Amino acid sequence: MDENATQGLHTNPGLSLSNILAALPEDFPWRSHINCYDRIDSTNTAAKKAAAQGADAGTILIADSQTAGRGRLGRSFLSPPGMGIYLSVILRPKCPPGDLMHLTCAVAVAVSRAVAQCCGLQPGIKWTNDLVVSKRKLAGILTELSVNSDTGLVDFAVVGVGMNCCQRADDFPPELTEIATSIAMESGKAIDRSRLCAAMIMALYEMQQALICQKQAILQAYRANCITLGQKVCIIGAGSVRYAAALDIDDDGGLLVRYDNGETGTVTSGEVSVRGMYGYI
Ligand code: BTN
Repeated sequence: MDENATQGLHTNPGLSLSNILAALPEDFPWRSHINCYDRIDSTNTAAKKAAAQGADAGTILIADSQTAGRGRLGRSFLSPPGMGIYLSVILRPKCPPGDLMHLTCAVAVAVSRAVAQCCGLQPGIKWTNDLVVSKRKLAGILTELSVNSDTGLVDFAVVGVGMNCCQRADDFPPELTEIATSIAMESGKAIDRSRLCAAMIMALYEMQQALICQKQAILQAYRANCITLGQKVCIIGAGSVRYAAALDIDDDGGLLVRYDNGETGTVTSGEVSVRGMYGYI
């Protein structure tokens, strides 16, 4: 673990290692692999470094704040102290990367379940990687893979989740007030971040066990909660914007669409940003 990652180890009373462990079963397999930080650059960046140095599958990094939180497509992810959960877990599935195309979908389903179970809120999923409540973003997911060039198999995957928990409307910067929300804002209740974090960790553990053998069930759950389906969407790629109707999710988690000229196609998440016709949703 690099020096930046080990500064300020688990001193925050709201989100602490001891409180997270207290909310996990005694025999939970990942218990001894959980690391908490007050501040870190990015839990995904640190997890990738740790994985490259041989950290076990199930190693988890949780931060109270990130100074360089990262989102999809090179975007930043705002991660102020005392507000959210910023969590990454290292997975080591022994399979070709093509078998993990639905990983982000599986994480979205798992984390939604944790929020529903722990906070009584059922988030929708905006394809591909955002959890949404009241048409605003509650959480984002960033999955990153490393492939062994000799074997062609996955060396490790890092799954990162950033969850807005305790913010009030005026805690978000002006550019996010219309598009972001938090569990506290939506539930009207105080949030025990450690309890929610433990629920997320348990859901992610179950998710990685089911990932390959229950792929169809995972994708069915994803489709059932995907608010993008049935919408008119705007597909923004490098130098292009296309309009389409979102029809379905394919078996790799791709978005099946019908473009305005009548052609159909599949959009994969690596390349594009999908927006609603009139804003974020
Ligand atoms: C997105 O909305 O595009 C994805 C956001 C993912 C943010 C999480 S916070 C924990 C982990 N560490 C990061 O730097 N990013 C992910």
